[in-house]
Amino acid sequence: MKTIVTSSVKTASAFIRSGELVGMPTETVYGLGANVFDEDAVKKIFEVKNRPADNPLIVHVSSYEQIEQLADRITPNAEKIIKNFFPGPITIVLQKNEVISNFVTAGLDTIAIRMPNLEITAKFIDACGVPIAAPSANISGLPSPTSWQHVYNDLNGKIPCILKGPKCKVGIESTVVDCTSSVPTILRPGSISIDDLRTIFSRVKIFPKLQNGEVKSPGTKYKHYSPKAKVTLVESKKELIKIISKSGKKNFAFIGFEKVFSARKSKIVKSSNDYAHKLFSFFRSCDEIEIERIFCQKVEEEGIGLALMNRLQKASHS
Ligand code: TXA
Ligand code: MG
Repeated sequence: MKTIVTSSVKTASAFIRSGELVGMPTETVYGLGANVFDEDAVKKIFEVKNRPADNPLIVHVSSYEQIEQLADRITPNAEKIIKNFFPGPITIVLQKNEVISNFVTAGLDTIAIRMPNLEITAKFIDACGVPIAAPSANISGLPSPTSWQHVYNDLNGKIPCILKGPKCKVGIESTVVDCTSSVPTILRPGSISIDDLRTIFSRVKIFPKLQNGEVKSPGTKYKHYSPKAKVTLVESKKELIKIISKSGKKNFAFIGFEKVFSARKSKIVKSSNDYAHKLFSFFRSCDEIEIERIFCQKVEEEGIGLALMNRLQKASHS
């Protein structure tokens, strides 16, 4: 199959309307989209990505009316998030409407919904005329794509079209919040932080830290975000130098707040936001030159730092 790369919303949306998949930009990471109401198209997403069937998809919308087409009921907690943070890098989980295929929700009775904050994406969803089911557009297990070129590298020849947008501003996936119970619960941390949510809710739970072993957001149990290189987290440049001088190995890279001159590749970040923006792209570029080991400097677990540490820890445990 030939993969075309286009900036035309009209061209890309025609593929969706004929039951095909499209790689699409968002402000977090690129997604692999299908018409949520076309079960055959949704099944293709799982085949192309090699995604486990028990990992549900996020459905992307461009209007409030589309949320009503997907959810059984929009709860007061969901209404608050919609009012304060939509469109934006946050996903709400609600009871699903009965018309939604079980393939979209992996058999769950809930559905994840998000309204991306990027003009070309909103125009694309409008032109498709339906909500778009889309996981991140990487082969399962690899880091999420943050540019159209990353999507092309993973999926060239497997999908007919990539809608070309800018590099992703945020760079890590959206915050996923369960809005089905009285206290909103973060299932996956993202750039909308717990403190951001506390500006509108008196209580917020963080699920992964509270429950032992059990997972409510199926995707969070899978190996994720990992480059082929071994990832090691360090407090400082000093700790890295110590490890390297012991092992004597030179084929390593570093991402953090300082430059490491002995590294084959060293990426300086200015803040946690900048770090999140650059991380997945850095992982991919290290794999391209077959770096063996990537050292990542830890960050404070506050603001986007919590989500960043979540992704770094996952990458380091694989
Ligand atoms: O920023 C993002 O969220 C990106 C862009 C493309 O929108 N999408 C993304 O999708 O990261 P994906 O499929 O890679 O991750 C979706 C996450 C998984 O952890 C999945 O388990 C969770 O959302 N999820 C989806 N539906 C759910 C549901 N009904 N209940 C709980 N978790 C759900
Ligand atoms: Mg993903």
